[in-house]
Amino acid sequence: MRSALSLEQVNAGYGGVQALSGFSFQAQANVLTALIGSNGAGKTTAMRVISGLLAPNEGHVMLDGIDITRSRASERVARGLVMAPEGRMVFAAMTIEENLRVASLPARVRKHVEANLGQVFERFPRLAERRGQLAGNLSGGEQQMLAIGRALMAEPSVLLLDEPTLGLAPIMADAVFETISSLLGEGITIVIAEQNIGRTLSAAEHAYVLENGRVTNQGPGHQLLKDDSVRETFLGLGQ
Ligand SMILES: Nc1ncnc2c1ncn2[C@@H]1O[C@H](COP(=O)(O)OP(=O)(O)O)[C@@H](O)[C@H]1O
Ligand SMILES: [Mg+2]
Repeated sequence: MRSALSLEQVNAGYGGVQALSGFSFQAQANVLTALIGSNGAGKTTAMRVISGLLAPNEGHVMLDGIDITRSRASERVARGLVMAPEGRMVFAAMTIEENLRVASLPARVRKHVEANLGQVFERFPRLAERRGQLAGNLSGGEQQMLAIGRALMAEPSVLLLDEPTLGLAPIMADAVFETISSLLGEGITIVIAEQNIGRTLSAAEHAYVLENGRVTNQGPGHQLLKDDSVRETFLGLGQ
């Protein structure tokens, strides 16, 4: 399989805080790759390094074989690397439709705004029904759909989802994974950071376990789901 995205020996952090150490990672094209880890493990830092919001101190970020380590975030979006950030970050005082339209889009998709808006509303009928309402009045699950919809406006080839099920009721978390599955079916490559281990590992082709900024385990999702140390750490189900 083709590797769409890879990180090689990345060190990154904030001032004196080293949040990622020797972090190497590969996401194959057209499948779901997961980063799992507890709070503070470094998942969001990895997402920031991938999306260009945080420059690594060492190491490389490669997209489709091209070194994008020094590319700006907007250039990465233009190349199809798009993130739906942790905490959703929708604009509460703007309507759903305004949130979707305001996405700062690369030139290649500006002509497709109306078509893409139509597709997002088709995918999420709940958002279509409420398009004129303020995003701040949406439920957490609906805001997550909006955050994913906003990312889709930029026509991603690689979509980054940082904790999309955080704080959601189980039925809404299921809906997020159904959306993921349909996007994979459309050929989008997806990288997810999650603490929702059961659902994530069941769905992920490959997963990396992150602890204190280091990869401590990796493998096919279904295999990690059976791994004693993973079960003990994340599910309290060790032997
Ligand atoms: N803006 C920041 N400034 C300083 N330290 C940060 C900042 N963001 C995260 N950290 C620290 O970096 C480490 C990794 O955090 P993060 O990547 O957010 O983890 P996760 O997403 O897995 O919860 C933690 O120790 C966290 O406290
Ligand atoms: Mg995080």
